[in-house]
Amino acid sequence: PYVVTESCIKCKYTDCVDVCPVDCFREGPNFLVIDPDECIDCSLCVAECPAEAIYAEDDVPTDQQSFIALNAELARKWKPIVARKEPLPDADEWVSVKGKLDKLER
Ligand code: SF4
Ligand code: F3S
Repeated sequence: PYVVTESCIKCKYTDCVDVCPVDCFREGPNFLVIDPDECIDCSLCVAECPAEAIYAEDDVPTDQQSFIALNAELARKWKPIVARKEPLPDADEWVSVKGKLDKLER
């Protein structure tokens, strides 16, 4: 499956949602995850994300490996999001910030 990583936190642009053919994105307060049991590996969402947050599981950067389990965990808890919506208000300020994991709201 594909995996949403740190740069989505506090941004949530949601462009990814519109292209997913199987509606496998799940939405939390300030982050999205991909349900690994539903993703069909089409890769369409990767190019849509302005934050470049989405990777194939095999290509997740070393410092972001914890997001593989985090997507699986939060996908069980969060509800589907099936249509694009406005990004979070300060998305453009947060998109380039590193080390945002402590800002994740569950
Ligand atoms: Fe959806 Fe395809 Fe992205 Fe998986 S890779 S989350 S199926 S758009
Ligand atoms: Fe997040 Fe990128 Fe989608 S910022 S909501 S993974 S378009």
